[in-house]
Amino acid sequence: MNVDEPASLMAPFSVDIDIDRGLLLNATGHLVRKASDMRGHYADADALAELIAEGDDPVHYEVFEVPVPDELGHLMYCISTLQPGRVGDECFMTKGHYHTMAETAEIYLCLRGEGIMLMKTADGRCASEQMVRGKMVYVPPYWAHRSVNTGDDEPLVSFCVYPGKAGHNYGDIEREGFPKRVFKRGGEVVIE
Ligand code: F6R
Ligand code: ZN
Repeated sequence: MNVDEPASLMAPFSVDIDIDRGLLLNATGHLVRKASDMRGHYADADALAELIAEGDDPVHYEVFEVPVPDELGHLMYCISTLQPGRVGDECFMTKGHYHTMAETAEIYLCLRGEGIMLMKTADGRCASEQMVRGKMVYVPPYWAHRSVNTGDDEPLVSFCVYPGKAGHNYGDIEREGFPKRVFKRGGEVVIE
C-alpha cells in the first residue's frame, strides 16, 4: 500500500442491477415499510386503518442496497420500490424526508413505473417532477422529497444516489407534512 492511502482503503466492487425489472440482484440491505408504518401521513386515516386491518398490512415500499459506510466521500445508493395502490383516493407514497445534512442533494433515476416526486422546503416552497422510466429527478440541497406512485399496476422503481453523510431526517416532515398531496380520481392524477 502507498503511504498516502488511508488504512481503511475499501476495495472496489460492483453490483448487478436488472434495469428492466428494477432489481438490485445481490442486495444485502433490505428495508421494508408496510402500511402500518405510514400512520399519520395520509389524509384519510380511517382508510389507512382499514387497509391495515382488512388488507393484511400490505408492503408499501422497499429499499434495496449493498451498504457502504455513511461517511464523507462515500456515495450511498439504493433501489427504491414503491407499490401501486390508494389510501382512499390518495396514491401510495413514501414517508419522505429532509436529509439530516440538509445541504446534500440526491439523484433519482426512474427505472420503472410512473409517479411524481413531491418536494418542499422548510420555508414552504413546493415543487413536483414527473417520474417515468428514463427520467432523472435532481433533488437539490434543502428540499424534502417524497415519491408517489400514480400507476395502477406497476411498482415505481428508482435508483437513488446521495452523499454518504446525508442521513435521513423524518421528524421535521412528520411535523410539517407536505403542502400538496397526490390523488387519483376517475383515472386522472390530481395534485392539490
Ligand atoms: C434516500 C432516499 C430514498 C428513500 C426511499 C424511501 O435519501 O431519498 O432512497 O429513502 O425512497 O423513502 P423514505 O426514506 O422517505 O421512507
Ligand atoms: Zn433522500
